[in-house]
Amino acid sequence: MTIFDIKKRNSETNFIQGDIKDSKLVENSIKNCDYVIHLAATLGVVNTEKNPVLTLDTNLGGTKNVLEACRLNDVKKIIFSSSSEVYGEPLKIPIEENDKPIPITTYGISKFAAEEYIKAYSRNYGLRYTIFRLFNVYGDEQATDWVLPEFVNKALSNQDIMIHGDGSQIRSFCYVSDVSDAFSKVLNDGDGETFNIGNNSEPISIKDLATKIISITKSKSKIKFIPFEESQRNRNEILKRVPNIEKAKKLLGYHPQISLEDGIRKVMDAQILRK
Ligand SMILES: NC(=O)c1ccc[n+]([C@@H]2O[C@H](COP(=O)([O-])OP(=O)(O)OC[C@H]3O[C@@H](n4cnc5c(N)ncnc54)[C@H](O)[C@@H]3O)[C@@H](O)[C@H]2O)c1
Repeated sequence: MTIFDIKKRNSETNFIQGDIKDSKLVENSIKNCDYVIHLAATLGVVNTEKNPVLTLDTNLGGTKNVLEACRLNDVKKIIFSSSSEVYGEPLKIPIEENDKPIPITTYGISKFAAEEYIKAYSRNYGLRYTIFRLFNVYGDEQATDWVLPEFVNKALSNQDIMIHGDGSQIRSFCYVSDVSDAFSKVLNDGDGETFNIGNNSEPISIKDLATKIISITKSKSKIKFIPFEESQRNRNEILKRVPNIEKAKKLLGYHPQISLEDGIRKVMDAQILRK
């Protein structure tokens, strides 16, 4: 296995440090690979809205480089991590794969356009693919600028938990091992398909998430609200995000296992160990 990433990391596997915007390096790095799992992206609501050109260059231009490298190296299949952001503000909940994508953020547009590039490469060059639209993935190694680990971090040190808006935004959080499980299922299955991947068993408002984390960590933190206008986040924030995952259940046997409470505890234990 070869891992390619712009950030240096300690890895026991073959690691190449590089930028997916560098087409020659991507082409050389993919030599001898049968399968490509394409995860590299510019992401983060604030980051991508502040840096729209970089977002398009990485997520769209970078994906084009990965696809071209797959074609030139006769890669068997690409598995792509798209996002629930392609749907924009959903017209109904839960969101199904056939619902019309109406992305409203640069990030959502970049992911949707990348999906279309992938389909075009499949039609024109026979490259096999599976697209996963991921819904709010979290994990114990995730940086604390992402909402769930951020709340845990604040709760563990009894600091105020700051919520953008009134906290009524609904999210469905999925623990990372449930997502990697989905990736492992599509090396041979799910060709030419797009799947919602997430855990829809416990949709929760951001305010209730903060309350739950305070309770699990037995924290003295208080919840504070910052109006959107005063926060760094703009109003492109999606209000409700709950996936329908029946397609992945039926075609891939995908069944997320980790409850929200267990996932929060894993994040909490990992953060305590690192402190
Ligand atoms: N975490 C989520 O909730 C979520 C939801 C939907 C989609 N996704 C998608 O899943 C994928 C993985 O996300 P993640 O949450 O693990 O975030 P992450 O930041 O851990 O992973 C993205 C990786 O891409 C690398 N990268 C960024 N720019 C690069 C470049 N120009 N060249 C090479 N590498 C580059 C980063 O260093 C990082 O390791 C991304 O494509 C993301 O858009 C994540």
